[in-house]
Amino acid sequence: TGTMKINKANHLEIGGIDTISLVEKYGTPLYVYDISQVKHKAQMFKKAFQDRKIKAQVAYASKAFSCLAIYQLMAKEEMSLDVVSGGELFTAIQADYPSKKIHFHGNNKSDAEIIAALDYNIGCFVVDNFYELEKLNQYTKQRKQNMSILLRVTPGVEAHTHEYITTGQTDSKFGFDLNNGQAQQALQLAMQMPYIDVMGLHCHIGSQIFETEGFSLAIDKLVMQSKEWHEAMGFDLRVLNVGGGFGIRYTSEDEPLPIEDYINNLIDEVQSVTTKVQLPMPEIWIEPGRSLVGDAGITLYQVGSQKIIPDVRNYLAIDGGMTDNIRPALYDAKYTGVLANRVEDAVEETYSIAGKCCESGDMLIWDLPLPKADDKDVLAVFSTGAYGYAMASNYNRIPRPPVIFVENGKDFLAIKRESYADLMRLERSLY
Ligand code: LLP
Repeated sequence: TGTMKINKANHLEIGGIDTISLVEKYGTPLYVYDISQVKHKAQMFKKAFQDRKIKAQVAYASKAFSCLAIYQLMAKEEMSLDVVSGGELFTAIQADYPSKKIHFHGNNKSDAEIIAALDYNIGCFVVDNFYELEKLNQYTKQRKQNMSILLRVTPGVEAHTHEYITTGQTDSKFGFDLNNGQAQQALQLAMQMPYIDVMGLHCHIGSQIFETEGFSLAIDKLVMQSKEWHEAMGFDLRVLNVGGGFGIRYTSEDEPLPIEDYINNLIDEVQSVTTKVQLPMPEIWIEPGRSLVGDAGITLYQVGSQKIIPDVRNYLAIDGGMTDNIRPALYDAKYTGVLANRVEDAVEETYSIAGKCCESGDMLIWDLPLPKADDKDVLAVFSTGAYGYAMASNYNRIPRPPVIFVENGKDFLAIKRESYADLMRLERSLY
């Protein structure tokens, strides 16, 4: 995808750079992001709304991959930003992120986090629960500071890939339930709060979604509900935030919709249901994470040991694993890969790609067809840009790999490789 191709040396190239030269320069494991692809995706999301002349905010759900450089990139692309913790907010502030474009999520924001966000005067809080709402009321009164909020509600629609489920009562740790009166109670309270402006509603129905039905159902519920609340208490739905979850391709089995199809469907649905119940068209906000950075990233590993079990399985181990990509172990997520140093060599074997952690579950890919591999080979795994570095750990005291941005034949070291000394940085000697 994007600017990835096979060059004359039969090497994988990304962003105009030979991956093997990146490995020589930076070592392995190595995360590489083709940032022209990230920018392209950001522009596609925004353009899809502009083409329809719809007021919108596209907020990067930065939990997918957060660091200073990606925040700087998103700010330059004029994206809004979804943060979910004091740490993400702090990093955004370090990047001088335009404060009004920041939306603050989370189901247990601490006092320190709330105060940091109020100090920076962010664009809005996505309020998750009564506890947070009351804290926000107190702090804004104390500080005589106005703050916009969205109420996060659970519409009783859950979507994953091709399936969606509708449940009468949603058992979720997030948000106010639409079905049991709690959302209405929260709205009544919030509308009485002197420094709080309820701009609208938020919902997030799931991740890696390939169909539009789930979004449509959630939109219908939120708009119909807003109509009732408009009549009962004068609530105006000015912003409808439908969250993230747009799918990407990890393997050939994944068939995500083009970005403009997801967006056109959202717009069509909001237009049709608001027309039906005679409400004005709200702004549409979305929060894509995975779909902005996921397939722009690859991971490069050095091949190491093998364990060949005749008639059973060939294990091929690489110099990373669940510490840099927990998704296969945690979610049974599927990936694919190639030997980056000889992409088009004939397939001869089937290998199961093992990580180097002391854990049987540390497997990256099962049954990957490859040429006969040895320790001179470099394995490239595709679509590792979302929830890879973001969820990386130091399990087994394995340092985190560096992150390289590439674009138009240039490479930039966005995050340095962790050293063993870094692992000791916070530690104190007992004796
Ligand atoms: N908005 C909210 C409120 C969310 O909870 C999430 C993801 C997003 C937006 C962005 O969703 P995306 O567009 O990236 O699908 N670690 C898991 C995914 C967890 C997603 C959590 N929330 C994974 O690796 O698949």
